[in-house]
Amino acid sequence: MPEFLVTTPTNRYPAIVERGCLRSLAAHLPKGAGKVFVVTEWDVWQLHQGPVMDSLAGHPHQVLFLPGGEPNKRLAPLEALAGQMLAGGADRTSVVVAFGGGIVNDMGGFLAAMYMRGIPVIQAPTTLLAQVDASVGGKTGVNLAGGKNLIGAFHQPLAVLIDPAVVDTLPEREYRAGLYEIIKCGIIGDAPLFDLLESSRNDVLARQSEVVDRIIGDSVRLKAEVVSADEREGGLRRVLNLGHTFGHALEAETGYGRFLHGEAVAWGMRAATRLALDAGLLAAAEAKRMDACIESYGPIPSLAGIGAEAIAARLSLDKKTRQGRVHFVLPEAVGRVRITADIAPALALEAIRFALDGAALTQ
Ligand code: GLY
Repeated sequence: MPEFLVTTPTNRYPAIVERGCLRSLAAHLPKGAGKVFVVTEWDVWQLHQGPVMDSLAGHPHQVLFLPGGEPNKRLAPLEALAGQMLAGGADRTSVVVAFGGGIVNDMGGFLAAMYMRGIPVIQAPTTLLAQVDASVGGKTGVNLAGGKNLIGAFHQPLAVLIDPAVVDTLPEREYRAGLYEIIKCGIIGDAPLFDLLESSRNDVLARQSEVVDRIIGDSVRLKAEVVSADEREGGLRRVLNLGHTFGHALEAETGYGRFLHGEAVAWGMRAATRLALDAGLLAAAEAKRMDACIESYGPIPSLAGIGAEAIAARLSLDKKTRQGRVHFVLPEAVGRVRITADIAPALALEAIRFALDGAALTQ
């Protein structure tokens, strides 16, 4: 069973990638655990509740529902759920199971971080994007109107249970949105993974199980290594934000409703690739290769009507901006990135314009 250990100053836990692993959920509860609160969304619950219900059958539990959707990734629904937990008898021995996509993982994790100043959480991601990114590493939080994930906490889980079989039921668009995060993993630190995504595109898109297990496992291994080296994003962990600085600005500018997170990251990676090329950090052939791979897993929704200046203005609201200086993660080659704040604003604006003009990527 592929199991990747995440070791941070606050916790040490396994990220398990295995078909059927949700059946072992109860085995990851701590000794003496009280009532379990499964935080999920209605559609996820309808599709995948079986193994979770089976595993928790002998343990007191309650299911709580989030409204779903990026526009609802706000503090208010969490206050409502905390009230339901209190009414349901949650105390400091209770455990949250965050069972759903990236939004549920982030919000369920944050609920656990806040409830009675912190109770444990188990992450059980059900989208590809959540499996390879959101569920591993303890980042939790919600959006403000002004920006993505601007309130939150680091709260490492007890375990991450990743069942690659659940991605079979994902809508095509959601699946591809997750694949962009896997392309990101290839670019930042796993050239063989990137090669595989290039060479096995048809199998990947057909969700052929062997290749799906491999690309999820490779991405989770990389993420576990990065988080273990730098839990609080003081240094190395910032590489995971390739495409995110631009992507978060795009999501905020479009009200969080037009692009899935992974699609915004795909667009952001194109902007970052162009910026790296213009800044002389990346060879033209490598830039072309990255662009081609990102495009080959498209399309994303139309970028029409979005202003480059408005996106550029939002970059300064990013969490990685320090004292007004935007820090960019830029590719130097497939498998290697650099973090730099040494970028002229005019160059960043040009890269945004180029990416907004990305007809090949959009539908
Ligand atoms: N999603 C980026 C990180 O976990 O650091």
